[in-house]
Amino acid sequence: MSRTVYINGEFVPESEAKISIMDRGYLFADGVYEVSAVINGKMIDNEGHLRRLERSLGELDLRSPLSNHEIEGVQNELIERNGLKEGIIYLQITRGVAERDFLWPEDISPTLTMFTQAKNLLQSPLATKGASIITVPDIRWQRRDIKSIALLPQAMAKHAARKAGANDAWMVDNGYVTEGTSTNAFIVTMEGTLVTRDLSTDILHGITRSAVLRLAEEAELPIEERSFTPQEAYDAAEVFATGSSFFVLPVVEIDGHIISNRAPGPLTNRLREMYIEMATN
Ligand code: PDD
Repeated sequence: MSRTVYINGEFVPESEAKISIMDRGYLFADGVYEVSAVINGKMIDNEGHLRRLERSLGELDLRSPLSNHEIEGVQNELIERNGLKEGIIYLQITRGVAERDFLWPEDISPTLTMFTQAKNLLQSPLATKGASIITVPDIRWQRRDIKSIALLPQAMAKHAARKAGANDAWMVDNGYVTEGTSTNAFIVTMEGTLVTRDLSTDILHGITRSAVLRLAEEAELPIEERSFTPQEAYDAAEVFATGSSFFVLPVVEIDGHIISNRAPGPLTNRLREMYIEMATN
């Protein structure tokens, strides 16, 4: 059975959803997106995702065709129509269709699309085993806080990881880890302190990152929000990544350095359990 998708006010079979080749998302990567996890048919932390969407749109002078409340209604209907129990819902807003020109017409109408993807989030084999990653130079633009659809650097970094026999890549700028290709980066030092990069325009302000920090704070774990180097990650007691489609993902190897005996660490497992408990209740 074909998936039902949403495009500009309509729910249609995927094969009938068509976008103009003049859409600025296609021509200029002029758009933003959000990904929310779905468990038991319910979205996790969607309010945070919609707040971040509003902020990304504002930074690019892009407007949303719908209010956040209306978007949420469409998301829920799409989840329902596709019978999605576990997976993700993707939404994208581009500036819309216009003759190709760097400047857009003032009266352009945005394009809003959404689709669902079924995915094992709770019983992910990678989360059980732990991921191996490589580090790559962060070649992205300087507004990584905006959830832009211009993802070629991240796609190329994942491609480099696959070629190196690894699962994913972390990006490094000026000697410090910024974030994963689609996750935020955390280490646990040998002293047991949770370290993750502080918020700025250098990284995406992950919704999962902030939920995990909130849980860690409630559990009275020592936390430092600061930049760390790849070397600190090689020497860490535990390493993990956070993101909507991974929750808390243990990392067991970085650039060939084995972390926590190549097994997910106890604090990582605990935070993953706490996150899942919070998300499913
Ligand atoms: N990626 N950093 C980057 C560069 C990301 O693309 C993402 C999310 C994150 C984690 O953010 P959050 O916890 O809000 O999902 C961090 C999504 C899931 C994606 O591109 O598929």
